[in-house]
Amino acid sequence: MPNRTIHILGIESSCDETAASVVLNGRQVLSNIIASQHDLHRKFGGVVPEIASRAHMEKILPVIEQAMEKAGIAYEQLSAIAVGNRPGLIGSLLVGLAAAKSLAWALGLPLVGVDHVHAHLYAGALDEQAPEYPALGLVVSGGHTSLYYAENVLRYELLGRTIDDAVGEAYDKVASILNIGFPGGPIVDRMGREGDPAAVDFPRTLLAPDSLDFSYSGLKTAVLYHVRGRPTGRGDRSVMPPAPELSDKRIRDICASFQKAAVDVLIIKLQRALEKLKSQGRPVHSLIVGGGVSANSLLRTRAKEFGQQNQLGVFLPRMEFCLDNAAMIAGLGYVKFRDHQIDDFSLEAVATTAV
Ligand code: KG4
Ligand code: ZN
Repeated sequence: MPNRTIHILGIESSCDETAASVVLNGRQVLSNIIASQHDLHRKFGGVVPEIASRAHMEKILPVIEQAMEKAGIAYEQLSAIAVGNRPGLIGSLLVGLAAAKSLAWALGLPLVGVDHVHAHLYAGALDEQAPEYPALGLVVSGGHTSLYYAENVLRYELLGRTIDDAVGEAYDKVASILNIGFPGGPIVDRMGREGDPAAVDFPRTLLAPDSLDFSYSGLKTAVLYHVRGRPTGRGDRSVMPPAPELSDKRIRDICASFQKAAVDVLIIKLQRALEKLKSQGRPVHSLIVGGGVSANSLLRTRAKEFGQQNQLGVFLPRMEFCLDNAAMIAGLGYVKFRDHQIDDFSLEAVATTAV
């Protein structure tokens, strides 16, 4: 394909953000519009799928219009429509997919389906230098904690994933246990920065010595028991002690100690993965991190240190590309488009990731 100006419109609606973005030649973000539904879900302490899909329906067209307006281009100047079609909440994915298909059909443009989790690993290349491959990829979000060997920007091998809760989910649940707000990640991050990470020795669940999988439910329960005490009674009859009043300092110390344990596990698994790949003679030149938890200040610092210690280039998304967004969908959509990976209108919404 000859070099030319390629504008891709990306659409994202997999969970609780309705987003659209126009990206030029896969790198330059011309617009990045995100309508968050946090206010709608806050009182439930988590995302309610029915409410999410209804809100997507209300927001999707205005968000797309805003993205086009901000980018300052006409629909006729687009080269393709990229859409996150997996993984996610089916009802939510369907809204973005229907909008993408309708636009592609009406404008006579190619449609490109993009895996949301792989797109998180593309976010570090937006408005920045592209990573050198092969790379170790870590996706840390509210729904995913996965480790990949990325041979190139389009080839991912899953090395390990969470067997229970995702790390972002653990952040959100800890915030809910401490009653400090939703979504919890940014709040725990902020409060933890002012606490003592050695105040409580929470467990680091590492699973089998060579395992590259993750488990965060034990850490979450450890925080619950530390705050509330152990339940009395068994099974259906078990009762949690009432929530105690905690001082601000105590909350900050618990946040710091939880956060230290959560991030320690990520770094230990990265080290394990690197050693395993090296022993297999598989080169690694970069570490790419993506997903909502890649906004975390402690993880960003520790990932950079890990890169320095292991002579790896470290690619962390700019803050605006950490959380769910459509620029990462348009960006990876561009790469797929250049690689002639075009979908037809039978493209489906799928709850799980491709790899
Ligand atoms: O990538 P994302 O927007 O959605 C999913 O694909 O799941 O990630 C959202 C998650 C939430 O669990 C949120 O609490 C977490 O990312 N998060 C953070 C931070 N900012 C967002 N976790 C830790 N520290 C942060 N600064
Ligand atoms: Zn995500």
